[in-house]
Amino acid sequence: MDNNYLWWRDGIIYQIYPRSFADGNGDGIGDLDGITARLDYLQDLGVDAIWLSPVYPSPDVDFGYDISNYLDIDPKFGSLDSFDYLVAQAHERGLRVIMDLVLNHTSDQHPWFIESRKSRDNPFRDYYLWRDPKPNGDPPNNWLSCFGGGGWEHDPVTGQMYFHMFTKEQPDVNWRNPAVRQYMLDVFKFWLDRGVDGFRLDVFNAYYKAEGLPDNPVGSFSLAPLSVRPFDRMQHLYDIDQPEMIPLLNDIRALLDSYPQTYAVGETFLGGPEKAARYCGEGKLHAAFNFEFTRSPWWARAFYQSIERWEKALPDGAWPNYVLNNHDLPRSATRYARGEDDERLKVAAALLLTLRGTPFLYYGEEIGMRDIRLTRDQVKDPAGQRYWPLFKGRDGCRSPMQWSAAPNAGFAFPGVEPWLPVHPNYKTRNVMAQQADPDSLLNWYKRLVAARKAHPALRTGMFLPVTYGTRFVFSYLRQLEGETLLVALNFSGRRQQLVLGRELAGRSWELLLSNKRSSMAPVKGSLIPLEPNEALILTA
Ligand code: NOJ
Repeated sequence: MDNNYLWWRDGIIYQIYPRSFADGNGDGIGDLDGITARLDYLQDLGVDAIWLSPVYPSPDVDFGYDISNYLDIDPKFGSLDSFDYLVAQAHERGLRVIMDLVLNHTSDQHPWFIESRKSRDNPFRDYYLWRDPKPNGDPPNNWLSCFGGGGWEHDPVTGQMYFHMFTKEQPDVNWRNPAVRQYMLDVFKFWLDRGVDGFRLDVFNAYYKAEGLPDNPVGSFSLAPLSVRPFDRMQHLYDIDQPEMIPLLNDIRALLDSYPQTYAVGETFLGGPEKAARYCGEGKLHAAFNFEFTRSPWWARAFYQSIERWEKALPDGAWPNYVLNNHDLPRSATRYARGEDDERLKVAAALLLTLRGTPFLYYGEEIGMRDIRLTRDQVKDPAGQRYWPLFKGRDGCRSPMQWSAAPNAGFAFPGVEPWLPVHPNYKTRNVMAQQADPDSLLNWYKRLVAARKAHPALRTGMFLPVTYGTRFVFSYLRQLEGETLLVALNFSGRRQQLVLGRELAGRSWELLLSNKRSSMAPVKGSLIPLEPNEALILTA
């Protein structure tokens, strides 16, 4: 491996939703020991880092995204000892560990909030956003909760209301309180001192609210044209993206930089790549998520446009990232694949793993896991409970990892009931079956990951689009020093031709990787035929 290899820029980050990855103790919920037992699998897959969705103590109203203690591990997941063991075992295998920090809000069971709601003069009162209702009983302003309804909850104990951007069990903390700010910085330090390599910051751009908490303008500002949420019809001028965030990021970055090779990626809440880009770079975050791919139709041109937009938005020195899946969205297999056919997913994987930018994988993506379907009474996600049937929630993409054809897909011991049902396709769609099939999606991911490792041009090389204006074919060069790779992706189920201009047509192209052929005579000339749903990587 070259000396300039920087794990979070050149490597691949794998998100684990711990409840659903591997149950080591037989309670139907995944845990840290379960993850540790599967590290060899991740090493073999070739990823560089794991990001754990929250594993801190939590009453699980929002499944870990409501934290009641930032400095411990929830007993259902293990203990600080099992965490230390996981980190040590990961590091032994060259895997970095990224923690998920949810600092915009705590659980209402956090000791701060339990104290805070006791009285108006409680020392912790100012740790949250408490205000009097208006004289007519209306909330202090018009802010809404992203999970439905108003953002203010009336508390009978003191007659005041507190603000919550998410469920009412997730009160937003007051970042303007210096004691809160200092404590949160110490939380970073606590985990860094335990050997953690980086952080994913949940809705970081919502930490600060505007002084005076003014009303947001209301109109047709919808982020999603068909959105059912009044929340999306509000212009979020005062409840997110306040200027105070930048000096805070400076402080977070300085702290991170005092440890070797650490990383922070922010979940930019609401908005597109331009906004994410504003938070990246020197003195700010190493990265902020760009979720454009998760909203892209299955068109070559659409993916190209997101890439172009992202590359344009990022300031010099900032590094892109690409995401097809996470724990909040329908899986890419559910969005793009037809039935159990994985061919499109191979094209999507080739795109993700040959672009200039850190690829994020979400557990099970590498075997093409599909979303599960649930009935109303099986829904666990608070957002699904609120909006059913218009929005059925986020449980679909959180089903147990499909390890084998054994009962419970090998996720939990036979006889144990997993917290969410296993997808009915697990007998044929699972890790063991795909390991044994050279043509499987899993083996395709492994080949792509290995190619990215072997070819620096795929990691840090220039990205030069070649064909990008059509619906079906997207091709680009990745170029670094003496190496040029040509990636050609056929987004259609029919044969297509890749047309090369004179300069590229004059070269002799050799096969590096294809999901459709294992050999190919070197091609020279302006036309390269592509099989249906082919992902072809050539070198010259
Ligand atoms: C974003 C997280 O990704 C999501 O799962 C969670 O519900 C909200 N933030 C609230 O923490």
